[in-house]
Amino acid sequence: MAEYIMAFDAGTTSNRCIIFNRSGEICEVAQKEFTQHYPKPGWVEHNADAIWSTQLSVAVEAMAKLGISALDIAGIGITNQRETTIVWDKETGAPVYRAIVWQCRRTADYCNELKNSGYSDMIREKTGLLLDAYFSGTKIKWILDNVEGAREKAKEGKLLFGTVDTWLIWKLTNGKVHVTDYSNASRTMLFNIHTLEWDEEILDLFDIPKSMLPKVEESSCVYGESDSSFFGHSIPIAGVAGDQQAALFGQNCFEMGEAKSTYGTGCFLLMNTGEKPVKSDNGLVTTIAWGLNGKINYALEGSVFVAGASIQWLRDEMRLIDSSVDSEYMAMKVEDTNGCYVVPAFTGLGAPYWDQYARGTIVGITRGVNKYHIIRATLESMAYQVRDVLDVMEKDSGIVLSILNVDGGASVNNFLMQAQADLCNVPVQRPKCVETTALGVAYLAGLAVGFWNSLEDVRGSRDIDRVFKPNLCEEVRIEKIRLWKKAVKYAFGWAKE
Ligand code: G3P
Repeated sequence: MAEYIMAFDAGTTSNRCIIFNRSGEICEVAQKEFTQHYPKPGWVEHNADAIWSTQLSVAVEAMAKLGISALDIAGIGITNQRETTIVWDKETGAPVYRAIVWQCRRTADYCNELKNSGYSDMIREKTGLLLDAYFSGTKIKWILDNVEGAREKAKEGKLLFGTVDTWLIWKLTNGKVHVTDYSNASRTMLFNIHTLEWDEEILDLFDIPKSMLPKVEESSCVYGESDSSFFGHSIPIAGVAGDQQAALFGQNCFEMGEAKSTYGTGCFLLMNTGEKPVKSDNGLVTTIAWGLNGKINYALEGSVFVAGASIQWLRDEMRLIDSSVDSEYMAMKVEDTNGCYVVPAFTGLGAPYWDQYARGTIVGITRGVNKYHIIRATLESMAYQVRDVLDVMEKDSGIVLSILNVDGGASVNNFLMQAQADLCNVPVQRPKCVETTALGVAYLAGLAVGFWNSLEDVRGSRDIDRVFKPNLCEEVRIEKIRLWKKAVKYAFGWAKE
């Protein structure tokens, strides 16, 4: 009998394969980073073929390290960086352009034009999203407008679009299955989250032929089988969810009002709002959490574009640290940031500010500010951004969190987690397994193939590692937040001519 579920976690900077057993424990991990392309300031691209080849190679590697075959795997779950846009030729399978990454700002001006022409409310009403270059719709339009012959081919039904989940399934099935799930569809800005259909009016607005779009299915079902050439035997592909929604599932936030914050490349705070979409008045987006057992679960989301990426920036561009883990002890070498604030708006600002033209800024530098202060201020910037989002989420939902569940790579940073608890004034709870994104989609896949039978089955397998209790006097907290907000204002509009 198959004893494992294999989760593909196709992230923004690396692809991973994590193999779980029936107790939800990690049995093996393989990971590979891939190249980030920055052809112009504010533009971000990936090579779509590299996304596929690294994902396949880590899967093969993880299976080999564990010494198992395809017959030992009950199902594959795929979770992915969302919104990233790939368009490829249906016949040849060749991408017509590099994948345009969610962080890419190239369509900011077009989004602005749409806003000025009064389209914001219609888009908001139908998709739950704000008109921003972040989402896939305008990225697809950019490819059709800018790649020679692309629009004609698309109109002839010769091109396909997919987010990374769709691309990987299409590759895994050797071009047999073109599909996505509700959670990923809801990030395209083309999907009506109420009628659960691709929206004709928005497709017309962007001039995107419907024939390019994948079929949309529930997040837990068998979409197809991997071609036997890849792993020796075929394996059912049985779960798909965008990485943030998968993390919400992996954190067992199944009930209305339960929330989590995931510290990956960006940081995303999601609250389950049950079967009802909740509209935000304060800069959050309404999104589909998952489709399961014939029901749709919605979430409120605050998307922070740069979180863990700022630690990578300290390491790779600024060369202030040798490795990400060093950031914790280096931040603790000083008692505070010495009045310095870092606003890592490298790709604009997401929730709750939504400024496509904001760019990174450092303020408050005096002669005494050293690299430790900058490192500390960079880590604290993540906690401030999450606090800003939590603040509006509580207003929008009318629910005051009693605990904040955290996960993702940077959540292992104890300094950051304590800062988060202090600035939000709420306990921060970290599970033993911070790989909840992969775990979430493993659950979704496992539920589809009977590896687990019910939510009760998966609820049991979640242990807490540590709870960080708030420990900052209210006066200091309020003053720090005031100065942070002042710093953010300096980042606004920088890239706008
Ligand atoms: O919406 C973008 C998000 O899905 C990226 O996630 O984990 O790469 O920060 P991550």
